Amino acid sequence: MDALVEAAAQAREHACAPYSGFRVGAALEDAEGRIWTGCNVENASYGLSVCAERVALLKALSEGARAFRRLAVVTEAITLTPPCGACRQLLWEYAGDIEIILSDGQVRSETLRLSQLLPRPFDATYFRP
Ligand code: THU
Repeated sequence: MDALVEAAAQAREHACAPYSGFRVGAALEDAEGRIWTGCNVENASYGLSVCAERVALLKALSEGARAFRRLAVVTEAITLTPPCGACRQLLWEYAGDIEIILSDGQVRSETLRLSQLLPRPFDATYFRP
């Protein structure tokens, strides 16, 4: 298995998902080959829950990483799970048109580009050309 997918599968083990029961792991590879992992973290007021992808991205950004190559997302859902809309937006702004690998952590996977998941994105170029 791709090391990035393996890292996402391992991160998923740390998921804090007592409310949804839906455990997600993510791994983001930066331009230097470093891997930043995340899992979803839910809370009792639900709305403050954070997706695995955003945890990985914010960990990376907060440690100084600025350029990214690939993101892997692992769940055990029957249908391979893409990042939610909010995560797509943040990923677009900070990581650009990276490769997104959706995986069940076992045998099934699909690779897309972020621009396929978020066509015609809004970003700062509209107001800061
Ligand atoms: N979730 C993620 O972590 N990533 C996704 O791509 C989809 C949704 C989380 C948020 C919440 O903790 C749970 O999955 C159910 O929506």
